[in-house]
Formats: sequence, structure tokens, C-alpha cells
Amino acid sequence: MAKEEKPIEYERRTADTKTLAQRLVLAYQQNGHWLRFWRKRLAYGLPLLAALGVAPFLTGIGGGKRVFTNGPISGVHVIFEQDCKKCHSVSLAKVQDQDCKVCHDGPRHQANTIGEPRCAVCHIEHKGSLKLASVSDANCTRCHSDLSAHGKNVATKALEVTGFAKGRHPDLSAILKRDDRPLKLNHAIHMPAQPKNIRGIKLPMKCVDCHSFDLKGEAVPVTFEKHCLSCHKGELGFDVYQVLGGENGIAPHSKDPEGIGKLIRDAYTKALDANPGLTQRPLGRNLDAGASRGVWLETAVRDSTSYVFEKKCRYCHEVTQENGLPVVEKVNKVAGQFQKGKPEGPRWLNHAEFRHHAHRMVACASCHTKAQQSQKTSDILIPAIETCLTCHGSSGTPIDNCSQCHYYHDKTLEKERDRKTIEELIGSLRVGSTPQ
Ligand code: HEC
Ligand code: HEC
Ligand code: HEC
Ligand code: HEC
Ligand code: HEC
Ligand code: HEC
Ligand code: HEC
Ligand code: HEC
Ligand code: HEC
Ligand code: HEC
Repeated sequence: MAKEEKPIEYERRTADTKTLAQRLVLAYQQNGHWLRFWRKRLAYGLPLLAALGVAPFLTGIGGGKRVFTNGPISGVHVIFEQDCKKCHSVSLAKVQDQDCKVCHDGPRHQANTIGEPRCAVCHIEHKGSLKLASVSDANCTRCHSDLSAHGKNVATKALEVTGFAKGRHPDLSAILKRDDRPLKLNHAIHMPAQPKNIRGIKLPMKCVDCHSFDLKGEAVPVTFEKHCLSCHKGELGFDVYQVLGGENGIAPHSKDPEGIGKLIRDAYTKALDANPGLTQRPLGRNLDAGASRGVWLETAVRDSTSYVFEKKCRYCHEVTQENGLPVVEKVNKVAGQFQKGKPEGPRWLNHAEFRHHAHRMVACASCHTKAQQSQKTSDILIPAIETCLTCHGSSGTPIDNCSQCHYYHDKTLEKERDRKTIEELIGSLRVGSTPQ
């Protein structure tokens, strides 16, 4: 209690209010702060400085124009990257198709399309893309998700293609086609699941024993001489009564039935000349022993000719008659589709690009799942879309893109542009790039 009653003792102030006031600089408003001094100058100066800095880029002095762009130019165009005007003839904002067409033809897509986008919409620049021709799917589905609205009298049946996936993209049309080639080929008999030995011939054969592909992806035609003869020579034998012996009774694999007939006659005539006693040999049920030379010869020739065409050629071919002569039905070039009356037919897939060479790491039968079991030529062995979907469509890489499998530009319309010299393309020749 006592403590509280004691009044608080303040220390005596050393300065009074007057001395305090003298400490304040009353004219402070007239004095400039250093920052205040510079602020104005910087506000005008810095942009000026910046503008000066950019001047070389604007005027082209010093080269580096990349400062204006969103990113590096694509790999293919990097050779003239510094020459912005090559693509930006009018303004930096918009690139006209005409700018591209100075160097490229860029032929149209389909004659009946409505509203094709500008080149620069599909071929995106300044993203440093390595493959400028690999365009994103939205560029295609903008029309293909509702095709009838984007083309006049559209012929394509697939009107709503929204992606490469089941139900969103048409199946490969081959599964609806037919294989009418009049050539018997039993794939299965040549490729049994278990190894087999038939009269000294070792099976199974491999697909590549009969099929191969060139770099363009075209099938190399299967031929009798290269792919069948080694095992099926016996199928050309005409010597039905086995009187000639050895290699003498083999017909040529020829388009000329009269020629074959003549060869057969010559073979028997020669044999009779060498051995007149042959007439003592009975010719099956058709001729007893001891016939005259003429009758014997005619019988041997007639029976052998019908035997070779009806039994032997028929082993692989359809044989008909024309003017009394046997005719082997045309099988045409054994590659692509069979089209009656044409020496060769189109590929199985005509509306997409497919190259075997790009898939040479994949086992044939894992795409052609039906080939090894196929017993009839009429079986269609081209894969269905499911096979492609295992790798394409959901990999998240460019192999999913429409542009991986389809062309956009109609290449048949492509015209040659005036070619440019290296110097015209890249500007003045750089040191080290001077051609010798
Ligand atoms: C190979 C052709 C090509 C060259 C060379 C090129 N550009 Fe472009 N640039 C394009 C295309 C295509 C576009 C997209 C414009 C459009 O859609 O019309 C574009 C867009 C631009 C844009 C607009 C940015 C945007 O995304 O809207 C600027 C700025 C630009 N370019 C600057 C430059 C400069 C600066 C140079 C030179 C260093 C240059 N470009 C060289 C093709 C080119
Ligand atoms: C000065 C000439 C020139 C101009 C202008 C030009 N290009 Fe090119 N382009 C080239 C050259 C060079 C190549 C390399 C291939 C070649 O020689 O054909 C190329 C390649 C391409 C390719 C193929 C890319 C690939 O990955 O296969 C595409 C797509 C392309 N240009 C699109 C365009 C587009 C779109 C424009 C307009 C924005 C354009 N180009 C403007 C010269 C030009
Ligand atoms: C709807 C998208 C689209 C448009 C629009 C487009 N292209 Fe293409 N372009 C592609 C696709 C996809 C490819 C790759 C497939 C092909 O070659 O058709 C390609 C390929 C190219 C190629 C490379 C051709 C080759 O043989 O290697 C050039 C060059 C090209 N386009 C130039 C142009 C030009 C020029 C224009 C404008 C007149 C243009 N493109 C418009 C999608 C488009
Ligand atoms: C401006 C609209 C438009 C764009 C964009 C477009 N297409 Fe087409 N496309 C069409 C029309 C229309 C047809 C149908 C022609 C017909 O059958 O009459 C067609 C047909 C096709 C066909 C079948 C043609 C044939 O070979 O029989 C394919 C494949 C195709 N387009 C792929 C593409 C791809 C890939 C792209 C993207 C790079 C694309 N299209 C972009 C309008 C377009
Ligand atoms: C003895 C030779 C031979 C062997 C081995 C062979 N093929 Fe064939 N293949 C042919 C002949 C001949 C044709 C043409 C007859 C036809 O149109 O079917 C053909 C046609 C085809 C066709 C196209 C015709 C269709 O109907 O789809 C495909 C695909 C095919 N073969 C795949 C294969 C595959 C895959 C293998 C291996 C599993 C194989 N072939 C093994 C001879 C052979
Ligand atoms: C490696 C040897 C070999 C080659 C090469 C070969 N085949 Fe065969 N082929 C056989 C054997 C073995 C048989 C079974 C014969 C048997 O069972 O008597 C056979 C049977 C056949 C059959 C009868 C099928 C059936 O249903 O009975 C035909 C048709 C045939 N081959 C056509 C061909 C054609 C066409 C080629 C060439 C494209 C060819 N072969 C190439 C060994 C071969
Ligand atoms: C083992 C099966 C086989 C036998 C047996 C066979 N051929 Fe062939 N033949 C083929 C094959 C495969 C082709 C198609 C490839 C080629 O032209 O070499 C062909 C093609 C032909 C062609 C061409 C058809 C055309 O479209 O132009 C004629 C003609 C022909 N053979 C005649 C014969 C005659 C005649 C015989 C009997 C003497 C015969 N072949 C026996 C397999 C056979
Ligand atoms: C990635 C899947 C795939 C693989 C792997 C594959 N093929 Fe094919 N094959 C196809 C497709 C798709 C076609 C239809 C292409 C076309 O004709 O345009 C085809 C077509 C064919 C044809 C018919 C071609 C013609 O024009 O006569 C033969 C034959 C064939 N393939 C044999 C083979 C053989 C042999 C192998 C292995 C060396 C093989 N394929 C590997 C997908 C495949
Ligand atoms: C992995 C390869 C692949 C991809 C990716 C792909 N397609 Fe296809 N497309 C094909 C094949 C193969 C066919 C069947 C061609 C045939 O039967 O001749 C086809 C058929 C078509 C057809 C029907 C053509 C006709 O005339 O019947 C159209 C349209 C089409 N594709 C558009 C597209 C579009 C749009 C995309 C992208 C969303 C795309 N495709 C992606 C391989 C592909
Ligand atoms: C085992 C996976 C696999 C399967 C199954 C497969 N592809 Fe491919 N395909 C690839 C790969 C990986 C590439 C890229 C190869 C390259 O660029 O060299 C490719 C490339 C392609 C190309 C571009 C070829 C080129 O020469 O540029 C086309 C078109 C194509 N595939 C179509 C098809 C079709 C149609 C099918 C179904 C019949 C199919 N693929 C099945 C893996 C596959």
C-alpha cells in the first residue's frame, strides 16, 4: 500500500521542446531524395535504352532476331531462321499461305472440301518441332468428326472419325473384300504347327520363303519359278504312263498350251525313234500292247496332254477349254488384290499408307493372325484394326497421329516449284559452309 502512495519520479528532461523542434529540417519539402531524382529519369530512360537495345534486331544489325519469337523455328526451316521475311512477308502476326507457296506447292486435300485451313494452322512454327509434317489430330477431326458438313457430295463412308480407336475410326476395308484369285494356295499345308517331313521336304516353311517387300512397302510378287518350282517340279510331269524315264517327262511352266502340246509330241516321237519297241508297252487301259506306231503315239500324246492340264496344272490352277484347247485361267501378278481382266490389281489398303519396312521387328503371323491356319485362297489374311490398336492410338507419341498413316496433300497434284540455290535459301553463305 505504501509503495503506491509514493509518487512516480520522472527523470528530468535534458532538452525542452524548443531544442527538439530545432532538430527538424523544416524545409524538407524543398530537398529532393536521390530516388526521387532518378525516378523520373529512369521512367523515360529505361524504355529508351531498351528501344536502343532492340534496334539492332529491328534493323537486322547483329543478327539475333529470335528475341521476337515465341521459340525456335522447326528443324527443317532453321537454315533460314534469321530471314523472318521469308515467311513473314506482310506482318509478324500472320503468315499467308502465299508465303509458304513461294517454296512449297502444298497441293489441296480433296477436290470437294469446304474451308481448308491455312498452312500455318496445321504446320505450327516456332515450337522447334523436329517433324513439321506431323500435325496434331484436331486439324483433321475438325472436318472428319462431321465430314458431310465439310465436303460436297462426300463419297467416303466414314463420316464421323474422331480418333484412332475402335468405334471412332473405320475398320480396315480389306476385311470386307474378296480374294478371287484362281490360284490354289493352302497356306496351312506349308506351315504345319509341328515340324514335318513329307517325301524329304522339311516343313514348316517360313512366310519369307515366299513373300518379301521392297522399301516402298510394295509386295514383291510370288512366282512359280522362285517360290514353288523347287518342291513342285513333279506337278509339271506329263508322262502319265511312265515310259519316258528321268527328267524327260516334265512340261515347261508356260503360258503356251500349244507349245506344251508340241513338246509332249516331240518327247514321245524322239523316244519312239530311239526305241521302236516302245509300242509293245501298254498305255494303261486305253491301249493294249502291240499297237501301230501311229496309234501308240497319238494315244500317248492325247492322254499325256489331258493328264498334265487336268491333273497337274489343276493342282494349282483353274483350267478351262477354249477352241478345244486347255486354257489356264489368268492369276495375274501375285501381289495386291486380284482383279479379273487386269494384269495387276491395287494394294489391299488404298486409303492409308502402310509399309512393312516400318514394322520389320514384328513377326508376320502376329499381325496376319489367320495366315498359318488358312486353307483356302479365298480367306482374307489382311489384319483387322484391332491389330494396329495394340501399338497405335494410345501410345502418346506421334505414331498415334492421323498424319502417321494418312497423307493430307494430294501428291498426284504436286507441281515442281522453282528451286532455290543454297544461297537464296540461307542468305549469305556462312563461313565453313562455302561449297568447294
Ligand atoms: C519458316 C517460316 C517462318 C520463319 C522463317 C519465321 N516465322 Fe515467325 N511465324 C511463322 C508462323 C507459321 C507463325 C504463326 C503465325 C500464323 O498463325 O499466321 C509465326 C508467328 C510469329 C509471331 C507471332 C507469334 C504468335 O504466336 O502469334 C512472331 C512475333 C514471329 N513469328 C516472329 C518471327 C521472327 C522475329 C522471325 C525471324 C527471326 C520469324 N518469326 C521467322 C513462321 C515463320
Ligand atoms: C524459303 C523457302 C521456304 C519457305 C518460305 C517455307 N519453307 Fe517449308 N521447307 C523449306 C525447306 C528447304 C524444307 C526442307 C525440305 C526440302 O528441301 O523440301 C522445308 C520443309 C517443310 C516441310 C516438311 C517437314 C518435314 O518434317 O518433312 C513442311 C511441312 C514445310 N516445309 C511447311 C512450310 C510451311 C507451312 C511454310 C509457311 C509457313 C513453309 N514451309 C515455308 C523451305 C521453305
Ligand atoms: C489440315 C492440315 C494441313 C494443312 C492446312 C496443310 N498441311 Fe501440309 N501437311 C499436312 C500433313 C498431315 C502432312 C504430312 C502428310 C502429307 O505429306 O500429306 C503435310 C505435309 C506437308 C509437306 C511435306 C510434304 C512432303 O512430301 O514431305 C509440306 C511441304 C507441306 N505440308 C506444306 C503445306 C503448305 C504449303 C500448306 C498450305 C498451302 C499446307 N501444307 C497446309 C497437313 C496440312
Ligand atoms: C477442310 C476439311 C478437311 C480437313 C481439315 C481434313 N479433311 Fe480429310 N477429307 C475431307 C473431305 C471432304 C473428304 C472426303 C472426300 C470424299 O470422299 O468425297 C476427306 C477425305 C479424307 C480421307 C479419305 C480419302 C481417300 O483416300 O479416299 C482421308 C484418309 C482423310 N481425309 C484424312 C485426313 C487427314 C489425315 C487430315 C488431317 C491432316 C484431314 N483429312 C483433314 C475434308 C477434310
Ligand atoms: C508357299 C509359299 C507361301 C508361304 C510360305 C506363305 N504364303 Fe502367303 N501367299 C502365297 C501365295 C501364292 C499367295 C497368293 C494367293 C492368294 O491370293 O491367297 C499368298 C497370299 C498371301 C496374302 C494376301 C492374300 C490374302 O488373301 O489376304 C497374305 C496376307 C499372305 N499371303 C500372308 C502370308 C503370311 C503371313 C505367311 C506366313 C505365316 C505366308 N503368307 C506364307 C504364298 C505363300
Ligand atoms: C518347301 C517345299 C514347297 C514349296 C517351295 C512349295 N510347296 Fe506347295 N506343297 C509342299 C508340300 C510338302 C505339300 C504337301 C504335299 C502332299 O501332302 O502330298 C504341298 C502342297 C501344295 C498344294 C496342295 C494343297 C492341298 O490342299 O492339298 C498346293 C496347291 C501347293 N502346294 C501350292 C504351292 C504353290 C503355289 C507354291 C509356290 C507359291 C508352293 N506350293 C511352294 C511343299 C512346297
Ligand atoms: C505348284 C503350283 C503350280 C503348278 C503345278 C502350275 N502352276 Fe502355273 N502358276 C503358279 C503360280 C504361283 C503362278 C503365278 C506366278 C507366276 O506367274 O510365276 C502361275 C502362273 C501361271 C501362268 C500365268 C498366268 C497369268 O495370269 O498370266 C500360266 C499360263 C501358268 N501358270 C501355266 C501353268 C501350266 C500350263 C501348268 C501346268 C503345266 C502350271 N501352270 C502348273 C503355280 C503353279
Ligand atoms: C504390323 C502388322 C504387319 C506385320 C508385322 C506384317 N504385315 Fe503383312 N500386311 C499388313 C497390312 C496392314 C497389309 C495390307 C497392306 C496393303 O496392302 O496396303 C499387309 C499385306 C501383306 C501381304 C499382301 C501384300 C500384297 O499386296 O500382296 C502379304 C503377302 C503380307 N502382308 C505378308 C507379310 C509377311 C510375310 C510378313 C512378315 C515378314 C508381314 N506381312 C508382316 C500388316 C502386317
Ligand atoms: C495406325 C494408322 C492409322 C491412324 C493413326 C489413323 N488411320 Fe485412318 N485409316 C487407317 C487405315 C489402315 C485405314 C483403312 C484404309 C483402307 O481400308 O483402305 C484408314 C481409314 C480411314 C478413313 C476412311 C477412308 C475411306 O476412304 O474409306 C478415314 C476417313 C480415316 N482413316 C481418317 C483418319 C483420321 C481423321 C485419323 C486421325 C484421327 C486417322 N484416320 C488415324 C490407318 C490409320
Ligand atoms: C508392334 C507394334 C505395332 C503394330 C502392331 C503396328 N504398328 Fe505401325 N508402327 C509401329 C512403330 C513403332 C512405328 C514407327 C516406325 C518408324 O517410324 O520407323 C510404326 C509406323 C507405322 C506407320 C508409318 C510408316 C512409315 O513408313 O513411316 C504406319 C502407316 C503404320 N505404322 C500403320 C500401322 C497399321 C495400319 C497397323 C495395323 C495393321 C500397324 N501399324 C500395327 C508399331 C506398330
